[in-house]
Amino acid sequence: MKLVSIDKVRPGDVLGKNVLDEAGQVLLHAGVELKPSYIQSLKMKGYTRLFIRDSSDLFNVEPDEDLRPETRAKALSTLRNVYKAIEKETEALRRNSVEDIQKVFASDRLKTFLKSDGPLGQIKTLMAFILDEVLSRATLAGMTSIKCTDSALYEHSIDVCVASVLVATNLGLPYHRLRQLAVGALLHDIGMIFIEKGLPEPVRVRHHTILGYELLRNSEDRDILAPHVAYEHHEHQDGTGLPRGLVGSNTVARAETENKAVPTLVGEIVAVTNAYDVLLSGSGDSPPLTPDKAINVLQQRAGTHYNREVVKAFLRVVPVFPKGTEIIVTEGNYIGYTGIVLQVNIVQLDRPLIALCRDKEGNAIEPIIVNLAQEPDISIRAIWDI
Ligand SMILES: [Fe+2]
Repeated sequence: MKLVSIDKVRPGDVLGKNVLDEAGQVLLHAGVELKPSYIQSLKMKGYTRLFIRDSSDLFNVEPDEDLRPETRAKALSTLRNVYKAIEKETEALRRNSVEDIQKVFASDRLKTFLKSDGPLGQIKTLMAFILDEVLSRATLAGMTSIKCTDSALYEHSIDVCVASVLVATNLGLPYHRLRQLAVGALLHDIGMIFIEKGLPEPVRVRHHTILGYELLRNSEDRDILAPHVAYEHHEHQDGTGLPRGLVGSNTVARAETENKAVPTLVGEIVAVTNAYDVLLSGSGDSPPLTPDKAINVLQQRAGTHYNREVVKAFLRVVPVFPKGTEIIVTEGNYIGYTGIVLQVNIVQLDRPLIALCRDKEGNAIEPIIVNLAQEPDISIRAIWDI
């Protein structure tokens, strides 16, 4: 199975994974042969890439899923309902200044609207569902959700939530912190509903983090940490982040006697998982990166942008080459050969079991199975046709 840009999908290609709409309903089932009209309508809805079955892939490797399809569908529809409900309730505020919106957030009307049996209650029920499922996993599948324009923010929020919970579990956070982190991660970009198109990036970042924080902290049923996730997920360790320019310690331990504002650990976790998902999806002028390249970028920015110890924990749960990824050999035996990741090695997440299916001229060959954990001289990189 290949991840392919929608511009390179051809009529007759067979869909490898279900395509969901923004409400979590199946739009097209895996196994469907794509017709020109299907491809056109997917493009209109803003899908940028699809999983396509590869006829030369004798192994028919299915990528792992971070959540069961039913859970993802439920998560998408819940997030959509919650976003729409909050958007409707706050519609009149949209064109006001940030300061005026903050004042309304502090009003009783909004506090009552956000009480526990309202939208935030739905998020808590969803959070419990996701935790139930994620806590039985040791590693991520790969965070390559198929997104359309209307679902991108919801899919992103779900993926960031799952990844953040796994990182936090790896760091030993207690269950009540995981719950607060998961709620915060699901709503970390809720402030985006107030952001108009066309604003400069720093203004967008500043406003959506402040407004997300103010909205969540003024709810009647707030979690202590959830608002801080919205507030701090664009902060950097070296103080160059937004909105407050907080300076981090690059450690997981927290000093008890700190007086000045420091980033919360949950905020620092979501800063890393949010960045990874944005790198994989691409943003603005930055094209999508393959998982191995995205991890390189995180490593380069560890210590300056991201908490170094949190990045280390992230590298303990994210496969560098997720199952089903197409790869090319760049060093050692079989240089230039291409193939696919058959299985992730959970002890060495950068050394999977691979099958090489084509030689360096691109000719199909009898597959060669290579266990990279036993072949330290062979290097690979991921290839995406996007
Ligand atoms: Fe954000």
